[in-house]
Amino acid sequence: MTDLDRLLADVRRGMIPAHVYNDDELFRLERDRVFGRSWMFVAHESEVPHPGDYVVRRVLDDSFIVARDEGGTVRAMFNMCLHRGMQVCRAELGNASHFRCPYHGWTYRNDGRLTGLPFHREAYGGEDGFRRHEQTLLPAPALDSYRGMIFINLDPNAPPLRDYLGDFAFYLDFYTNQSSAGIELVGPQRWRVKANWKIGAENFAGDSYHTPQTHTSVVEIGLFREPKAAKRKEGALYWAQRGGGTTYKLPPGTFEERLRYVGYPDEMIERMRGSWSSAQQRVIGENGFMISAASLFPNLSFVHNWPKVANGSDSDTVLPFISIRQWQPISADETEVLSWFAVDAAAPAEFKKLSYKAYLMCFGSTGMFEQDDVENWVSITSTAAGSMARRLLLNNRMGLLHDDKPVTPPLAHWVGPGTAYVGYGEYNQRAMLALWADCLAQPVAEAARTELGAP
Ligand code: FES
Ligand SMILES: [Fe+2]
Repeated sequence: MTDLDRLLADVRRGMIPAHVYNDDELFRLERDRVFGRSWMFVAHESEVPHPGDYVVRRVLDDSFIVARDEGGTVRAMFNMCLHRGMQVCRAELGNASHFRCPYHGWTYRNDGRLTGLPFHREAYGGEDGFRRHEQTLLPAPALDSYRGMIFINLDPNAPPLRDYLGDFAFYLDFYTNQSSAGIELVGPQRWRVKANWKIGAENFAGDSYHTPQTHTSVVEIGLFREPKAAKRKEGALYWAQRGGGTTYKLPPGTFEERLRYVGYPDEMIERMRGSWSSAQQRVIGENGFMISAASLFPNLSFVHNWPKVANGSDSDTVLPFISIRQWQPISADETEVLSWFAVDAAAPAEFKKLSYKAYLMCFGSTGMFEQDDVENWVSITSTAAGSMARRLLLNNRMGLLHDDKPVTPPLAHWVGPGTAYVGYGEYNQRAMLALWADCLAQPVAEAARTELGAP
């Protein structure tokens, strides 16, 4: 058994060698075997609504221009000039019909086609020397979208995105499909934390357990009524193939009453009725759970919370918000966080404004939850680099007995796909790391190469 085999076997039995949270060698493997074959979120269609709109996004070190061309098609193009490799687009977002490389001036249309090549005749002998007309910026090997969320995959043979999402798509709809108008995004705010990317992804996937401890002050100052210790454990944790998340138990009531309880106005609830399937509605109306944080493997997370927004500690007025966030790895010990505010595009203007405020109060670079969380994650990462961390296997088995039977049985009447448990457990962190282990166990095939204008 190689060291890697042993490590993956440990992870699969729910024991985590602590150094996985800061290990350069594993990070090199993750780069190819996790991020080289997973569907990576790069943008939402609402970020590039008009022809010429673009954003520049990365998958680790690979920069892509995600642009809507003049015909309305959204493409993701590798942001490297075909000439000598300069980054073609240096801005983070904008609207452009063409992109001109700053180095020698090669110019590309917003669909990637090379259109301008200074001194083509003098320098190359025209088309005889270099066929300008056949050249385009390298497209992302695969591109696909779900509910307006655009993903790319560095593996051209990746399964379709919908297959990859699997049953998790059912839960994705709670965040992205509150009406037929879909969502619109604000952001992203971006910042770097000295923490391994897996820690945030695992936390959002299923760590209800940290909320009462890490975020005590948020409850104490009256910002949030939910994460009291006794309350959080009543929530369900669900896992469905490629992702899973946490929920809060709602007080008794109908679908409408429960959505009102978390602060949705009636006109939005009406539209949710129209766009969610009956099973999706029954998770709220029958099971009585409201989705909160979630992660899609490997590094995309979601959160839905409803903090108090009115002044006065006795006020019970809450307002929900949604955030989409990505844990973009920089290295084994550093992550760039991208944090978007998301809201139903059909929501009333006043709701959008207040929901954005609620988001900023809780998440984003100044958010109170964010500040609490990151302190833990940075500390784990720095300690995981030492030699002692190589001697410690962390227990990731919460919710399991020694014989692998669950402490509490799965919820028998859970309406959604996948498996759900009420109470505290590390079911989802184990599921995330099991997918991670599956990726790491499989080497990637060598990628095809593109030779530019070779004779
Ligand atoms: S590197 Fe882009 S034009 Fe030369
Ligand atoms: Fe947290």
